[in-house]
Amino acid sequence: MKLLYAFAGLLVAMSPLSAQVPVYLDETKPIEDRVEDALGRMTLEEKIAMIHAQSKFSSPGVPRLGIPEVWTTDGPHGIRPEVLWDEWDQAGWTNDSCVAFPALTCLAATWNPEMAGLYGKSLGEEARFRNKSVVLGPGVNIYRTPLNGRNFEYMGEDPYLSGAMVVPYIRGVQSNGVATCVKHFALNNHEVNRHNTNVIVDDRTLYEIYLPAFKAAVQEGGTWAIMGSYNLYRNEHCCHNEYTLEKILRDEWGFDGVVISDWGGTHDTDQAIRNGLDMEFGTGTDGLRKGTKNAYDNYHLAYPYLEKIRNGEIGTEELDAKVRRVLKLIFRTAMNRNRPLGSLCSDAHYAAARQIAGEGIVLLKNEDNVLPMTVEDGSKILVVGENAIKMMTVGGGSSSLKVQREISPLDGIRERFGDKAEVIYERGYVGDTGGEYNGVTTGQDLSESRSPEQLVADAVSAAKGADYVIFIGGLNKSEHQDCENTDRAGLGLPYDQDAVIEALAAVTDRLVVVNISGNAVAMPWVEEVPAILQAWYIGSEAGHAIADVLSGDVNPSGKLPFTFPARLEDVPAHIFGEYTGTWVRDTVDIRYLDGMNVGYRWTDRQKKTKPLFAFGHGLSYTGFEYGKPRISSTEMTQDGTVTVSVRITNTGSREGKETVQMYVGDRKSSLPRPLKELKGFRKVLLSPGESTEVTFTVDKEDLSFFDPDRHEWVAEPGIFDIYVAAASDDVRGKVSFELK
Ligand code: BGC
Repeated sequence: MKLLYAFAGLLVAMSPLSAQVPVYLDETKPIEDRVEDALGRMTLEEKIAMIHAQSKFSSPGVPRLGIPEVWTTDGPHGIRPEVLWDEWDQAGWTNDSCVAFPALTCLAATWNPEMAGLYGKSLGEEARFRNKSVVLGPGVNIYRTPLNGRNFEYMGEDPYLSGAMVVPYIRGVQSNGVATCVKHFALNNHEVNRHNTNVIVDDRTLYEIYLPAFKAAVQEGGTWAIMGSYNLYRNEHCCHNEYTLEKILRDEWGFDGVVISDWGGTHDTDQAIRNGLDMEFGTGTDGLRKGTKNAYDNYHLAYPYLEKIRNGEIGTEELDAKVRRVLKLIFRTAMNRNRPLGSLCSDAHYAAARQIAGEGIVLLKNEDNVLPMTVEDGSKILVVGENAIKMMTVGGGSSSLKVQREISPLDGIRERFGDKAEVIYERGYVGDTGGEYNGVTTGQDLSESRSPEQLVADAVSAAKGADYVIFIGGLNKSEHQDCENTDRAGLGLPYDQDAVIEALAAVTDRLVVVNISGNAVAMPWVEEVPAILQAWYIGSEAGHAIADVLSGDVNPSGKLPFTFPARLEDVPAHIFGEYTGTWVRDTVDIRYLDGMNVGYRWTDRQKKTKPLFAFGHGLSYTGFEYGKPRISSTEMTQDGTVTVSVRITNTGSREGKETVQMYVGDRKSSLPRPLKELKGFRKVLLSPGESTEVTFTVDKEDLSFFDPDRHEWVAEPGIFDIYVAAASDDVRGKVSFELK
């Protein structure tokens, strides 16, 4: 039957271009006209079918009219392997392996919108080649606590940085005729109790911290889809939340795309009808075992909705609005005849993954210039740690991938240095030996028979004669690490890694710690280790990218997109706010009493405590000198601008990139404000001795705060300070002006 429908659709589509060509198929016609035409041809049942899933990741379109299915896919770091029609398990295809791009934390750490554009374009090409219409990502939930198991999928703690990085990602993906589905809207800032957390947050914090990146995604990125989050806000689930979806997303921001539920995030038929949800996915995903003939008929936006319309309880106004938006999505994607064909696992994609990773790795510390490594014939390099060999692309939840290849850090180091040096490996500790997710296995045997004591002793004895000791550890993608649906138990490194690092530090002064994680970790040994790299989850090219930075082939230029606190007790979410690490059955209120004190907005004000590493921090193998910033005028009118310029010089002997950060501070305001907030950044490439002028334009928007009483952004007259900085804790110059 389905085939017959498809054939009929094809015939309509193929009939010679004449007056009979239906408007909805005529790409020369405005999209709104095509939508109306298609809508007018659809039956009630076809409309209902269009707004809920028919399988784990697809919805049916309208076969009779030749309107194709909508195929979605995770996201956001690579294109997820095909799963069975109604199961989470992979389908076992042999042509669905992908390139894993670096996790979004790494992308954010590049502070380079060009990298985000390259990322989006490349990922979109992979999605397109796999015939997907919607990529479920990127995620821009704010980093509120380092315990959130899903931080690795997001872009850090700062709304401005996340917004600036998400926009080119979206444009890049969508240039392929593939929609992004920006997630998880909104306030999904931890995983434990994610379905039953009711977030209580004041409007100011909501608008200033948790919403701006989503707003940028909608208004600047033009995303064609948004995913509602699992949690509740104002006691309504965010997949059908009147306030976030109707009032903010559609009325205030003018979003014209599709709202997709998170998988299993739809709970109430009436709310799903009225409160902005357009497509329901993942409900009751035990699939065909549930219900009568087709479990998908039980979805809230399936028979229950149909019944309400049939028995006159509700009209079709909301339904038509939803269908219009889905049709628009289809016209923008699968029915866009001009979209490119895409490509999978191309050399260009590997090159992009490696380049982004190289720009995102952050050099946290480099005492005595231990890095870059200078390796001579006969040098001995000892690599220690499970993360040097463990595949990191499998696991972590829905972002898990099946990759065509993944270069391990150890292999990358061997490949780069092996012709000169002897590269030896010691395990050091045993962490997680598993390697399976939804039927995708790494195929690695990580079993180990030595005792923990023996492992440390062996590593220490190997370290004694080594020219360099590279410890590669951190977290992994297992539960309670960096993993969806669980949070971390604490800030510390698991598996007693601290003891291994300390034991190594005691026998060598050429120790480099490479921390693989999507989250901040405690580093009680920070003073004892001369060089530390934050290397994230960087995907297929992990080993190459790490070796690029260790060797100096790539001069590190990443900067932290979130604060590394020294202790969990220094994090406002845990000082003032609420957070529950224990699972509960009922709805649990979580009050964000930490308010806007997220990350550097808090650490900036602390006199007694210092972060381990501040937001925006990241070193280079060269040095940069900042000139005195200059401002175009000491006064600004409400509709005017001022520009701030600063000269940056590369004072070292290597080419390198520096990200110049611009923060704004309001000296006096009617409501308390953070000391300073990021409002601009620019990454520049400079050869040794070269200098360049970096200029920022400041306008009213950069000076405004959200006034909750007036429900609008306000820039109050007064003195503003512009800080030019190399990191949030490394201000290099300040200029001031008065807003009239
Ligand atoms: C996750 C989403 C994901 C979806 C589909 C959910 O559990 O929260 O981010 O896109 O599953 O896999």
